Amino acid sequence: MIKIDLTHTINKIPLEAYKQDVKTINKAINNKTGLGNDFLGWTSWPKDYDKEEFERIIKTAEVIKANYDILVVAGIGGSYLGARCAIEALNGLFPTNKTKVIFIGNTLSSNYVHQVLNYLKDKNFAINVISKSGTTTETSVAFRLLKELLISKVGEEAACKAIYATTDKARGALKQEASQKGYESFVIPDDIGGRYSVLTAVGLLPIAVAGCDIRKLMAGAYDAMIEFDNEDIMTNSCYQYAVTRHYLYNCEKSVEMFVTYEPQFTQLGEWFKQLYGESEGKDQKGLLPDSATFSTDLHSLGQFIQSGTPLLFETILMIDEPNYDITIESDKNNLDGLNYLAGKKLSYVNKMAFEGTLSAHVEDGKIPNIVLTLPKMDEYNLGYLFFFFMKACAMSAYLLKINPFNQPGVEIYKQRMFKLLGKPGVK
Ligand code: PA5
Repeated sequence: MIKIDLTHTINKIPLEAYKQDVKTINKAINNKTGLGNDFLGWTSWPKDYDKEEFERIIKTAEVIKANYDILVVAGIGGSYLGARCAIEALNGLFPTNKTKVIFIGNTLSSNYVHQVLNYLKDKNFAINVISKSGTTTETSVAFRLLKELLISKVGEEAACKAIYATTDKARGALKQEASQKGYESFVIPDDIGGRYSVLTAVGLLPIAVAGCDIRKLMAGAYDAMIEFDNEDIMTNSCYQYAVTRHYLYNCEKSVEMFVTYEPQFTQLGEWFKQLYGESEGKDQKGLLPDSATFSTDLHSLGQFIQSGTPLLFETILMIDEPNYDITIESDKNNLDGLNYLAGKKLSYVNKMAFEGTLSAHVEDGKIPNIVLTLPKMDEYNLGYLFFFFMKACAMSAYLLKINPFNQPGVEIYKQRMFKLLGKPGVK
């Protein structure tokens, strides 16, 4: 399904040499014996997910679509990025759905929060508050403000009906509030951490409200789960990707630039950055994940990539077949000099930009490139891609002997901020 092209990596990747390590790590993933093994629930989730809850998500999405113009999703990090990137990747940047999905709870900026609240003042909206811990400051503050606005518009009873909570099944302030107020609730499983949770209710409810087919999303993830349950590095493209990143890291590369040629995949780059950055950036190790959208960023970062400090390699995600295409017509005056493109598809021009850039970066710039290709972007392929990246991330982190599922570094800023804010119990 996904094609991996390792012919542009400059250094030949010694896949064979990783054979035993990959086998051992694959076993540790399957037997749940590796570091952070309490958080490997996502590895079998496309088979084991709660089917009853899944049907309830589909029904709830229909209710939201029928009754509200906007779903405001409050969440941050793994409780936000998956839904946002999926909706943009599938629906594009100018969606025509009746029910819009917008995001809050991912910042403490008073400017942003004011803009969203102001925009919602005269709108008919529902809220999906998403937090596994139920105590994340950005999300909790935004939720409190949103709730106040909603109650002032429709009253407490109708507001409680318009609030959907996605959180832990038993613990946390949000769970307690949801039970007390009777919000319809969905569960984030104990053994699935935020950045591996896009295929749980965290991602599924907003994605379904945006009109996307979550059955197909799960079907793609299921097929990836079956395909990549394979310990043979010579035939497993997911592990080949993980090993290649690891090898390039050992060849003094410190940055992986995730590149697409589609503006609607920019948020996919944000999801990718969180997945790899938060999973691997520990113990003074790990690649810094960055992202770019070409050809847009060829006119900004392109200069650095081509000829700046040689610290990065690129991972390009290409899609074989665009969902829409446009033909460039001939113009009798040809004032812009573009008639040499007459009759050509815009997707062909974009593809030539890719091929030209690939050869400029690899042959001239000596930048290793990994090229991943998916047949098309739809729900099935996106579900497959999510699983591909999550499994490759676990393999990559284990190759570095890092626990992929914790984020101790993130806690440090929180403690400093809480101390400054005078949070009770924080010294
Ligand atoms: O990947 C992670 O675990 C984090 O990015 C969390 O998703 C993020 O911090 C939000 O946490 P919570 O869902 O508890 O509000």
